[in-house]
Amino acid sequence: MSCSTYLQLTVMAAILIAATRGYIVKDGNCSLVSSGIPVVTNFDMEKYLGKWYEIERYEQDFQRDLECVTVEYSRNEKDDTIEFRNKGFSTEKDAFASFSGTARIFDPLGKPPGGKLIVSYGVKSSNESNYWVVDTDYTRFSVVYSCMPMDDSETVSEGYWLLSRTPELTEELQITEKLKFLLNTYFIPSHVRTTNQTESLCRKEPEKRAVPATLVLPPF
Ligand SMILES: *[C@@H]1O[C@H](CO)[C@@H](O)[C@H](O)[C@H]1NC(C)=O
Ligand SMILES: *[C@@H]1O[C@H](CO)[C@@H](O)[C@H](O)[C@H]1NC(C)=O
Ligand SMILES: *[C@@H]1O[C@H](CO)[C@@H](O)[C@H](O)[C@H]1NC(C)=O
Repeated sequence: MSCSTYLQLTVMAAILIAATRGYIVKDGNCSLVSSGIPVVTNFDMEKYLGKWYEIERYEQDFQRDLECVTVEYSRNEKDDTIEFRNKGFSTEKDAFASFSGTARIFDPLGKPPGGKLIVSYGVKSSNESNYWVVDTDYTRFSVVYSCMPMDDSETVSEGYWLLSRTPELTEELQITEKLKFLLNTYFIPSHVRTTNQTESLCRKEPEKRAVPATLVLPPF
């Protein structure tokens, strides 16, 4: 088998595996794949802090089948870093899973700072931005894009999240139209999965035992 055939098969295998898992894998590096994606300018981290509800996403390995997903960003007063806590409910395991990490602005000296963050889980830290705020009004919605190199270094995996300050997204026409435009222009609607935020499913938290952290693999 020639080297290039082997490579092609590897790439195909990666795409097939990813397809059955539901997340998106593309050939190339992140700087190429992401080149057309807009990012907010003049990003205000303080206004972004607090709790967000996930409304929809591309499926991700680390979030597989999780519903009721929320993420909360807070400032650690001690060292001024941003911490986050991601939570989701696994209907299969009938339990909440959570993981946490830190976030920082990719280019804090940028004038104005752009909405590119470096999100790290646990001790693993990256120096590349992997969380792009495509658009947000801070008070109702946020559209997030991510590109992460896969281990094979030939392919990348992409993420899309639509977050809302409330369990149900605003129905304001102007925002609905904007979100529809962003999704159709920069993302792949057929890959989008809706997150169930139904109260009866998501508000049982105190009675639920948390899934051990090891059952949920952090992405980076
Ligand atoms: C991404 O790929 C392009 C084309 O192969 C190359 O020019 C560029 O340097 C690569 N960027 C990185 C960061 O590897
Ligand atoms: C991140 O670190 C790697 C390896 O140390 C380096 O090659 C790369 O240029 C760095 N990227 C940025 C954006 O600083
Ligand atoms: C969300 O979960 C609730 C409670 O389990 C269920 O009744 C409802 O059908 C689910 N909604 C969707 C859109 O799957």
